[in-house]
Amino acid sequence: MRFLRDLELRGRRVFLRADLNVPLDRGRISDRTRIEATLPSLRFVLQRSGRLLIASHLGRPDGERRPELSLRPVAEDLAEALGVPAELAPDCIGETTERLVNALGPGQALVLENLRFHAEEEKNDPEFSKALASLADQYVNDAFGAAHRAHASTVGMARHFRERAAGFLLEREVSVLSDLLGAPAEPFVAVLGGAKVSDKLGVLQSLLGRVQVLCIGGAMAYTFLRAEGKPVGRSRVEADQVSLARETLREAEARGVRVVLPTDHLAAERPQAEAQARIVGADAFPENLLGVDIGPKTADAFRHEIEQARTVFWNGPMGIFEIEPFSRGTLAVADAMAACGGTTVVGGGDSVAALRRAGKLAAVSHVSTGGGASLEFLEGRELPGLRALEEEATEPMEKAR
Ligand code: 3PG
Repeated sequence: MRFLRDLELRGRRVFLRADLNVPLDRGRISDRTRIEATLPSLRFVLQRSGRLLIASHLGRPDGERRPELSLRPVAEDLAEALGVPAELAPDCIGETTERLVNALGPGQALVLENLRFHAEEEKNDPEFSKALASLADQYVNDAFGAAHRAHASTVGMARHFRERAAGFLLEREVSVLSDLLGAPAEPFVAVLGGAKVSDKLGVLQSLLGRVQVLCIGGAMAYTFLRAEGKPVGRSRVEADQVSLARETLREAEARGVRVVLPTDHLAAERPQAEAQARIVGADAFPENLLGVDIGPKTADAFRHEIEQARTVFWNGPMGIFEIEPFSRGTLAVADAMAACGGTTVVGGGDSVAALRRAGKLAAVSHVSTGGGASLEFLEGRELPGLRALEEEATEPMEKAR
């Protein structure tokens, strides 16, 4: 794989696929993490007098032009952050866009409108890939968060370029996550949470061969507790995953991995802020309540494991984190991650949001910008976006220099 620093960028039209799929709240960007993380690559191209085309998807417009999913707020943010105008092209392909690209001078930037306004993007349509590729001389993929998607801008386009590279963000994500799969310093502790066991089974399997300790919180813990025959009241259990959870626990034991499950919970009648919540022990979970967060004893146990670790990977909240009274367990994990002296890697939107809320974002070693992509990577799956960068350019479209 080639990297951005290997390209001769001067005067070249550089198509930079970023993942600027940022959360919006009434049209305003509510979390700039992905923008910040992409800036080094964008600045590098501009400083080396590349003619920069910035492309991304935003949300899931399903092939429709949805004004509320325009990249306009992102373009405005980028212009300010980069200190150069970053005009928004009305589309990502087409005559007007071509004109704007051709008018672009060295060191100037243009933002292409949401790629997913075209259904062909997600279909990895060859003609659409070609149309995108025809805009540029070079292709840079820095969209780690979308690298698990085989779309036109992440896969189909790549074959049209001899000059193509991974951006700095993608390079760093791959390097940090590869280290977790390689020979991470031990003890290696994984902390997994979130709603569904089914989303995490792949990564659980992969991590079992690597970690010494596995802490499981969030709603997925109830499926594991059920597998152990523990009462969980009305907590969310994935009935069809209970036997897999049981097998996972057996496998962990066979491999000598210590699994730390919640020993107490915050439980409430309803998953709502105004519902009365109380701490309950794992062996005495009332029938009428459901778990909304890990309890304080569990939070202490997780904290202890994290602080002793030399490598930690954390993905997923410990409770219904978006409801403030149910966020303590998740925030405790965020604090422990920040206090850990080892390598700390965090992936997934809620975990990252918790770190931010705790003011500890800068205190961890690496915050992955790809929730789904980082999990698939750690499962050991090949990400289509990475593979496309490594393959030969089978249909290069020669560009006059
Ligand atoms: C993400 O937010 O995980 C990426 O931008 C990919 O988005 P998607 O899940 O809509 O493909």
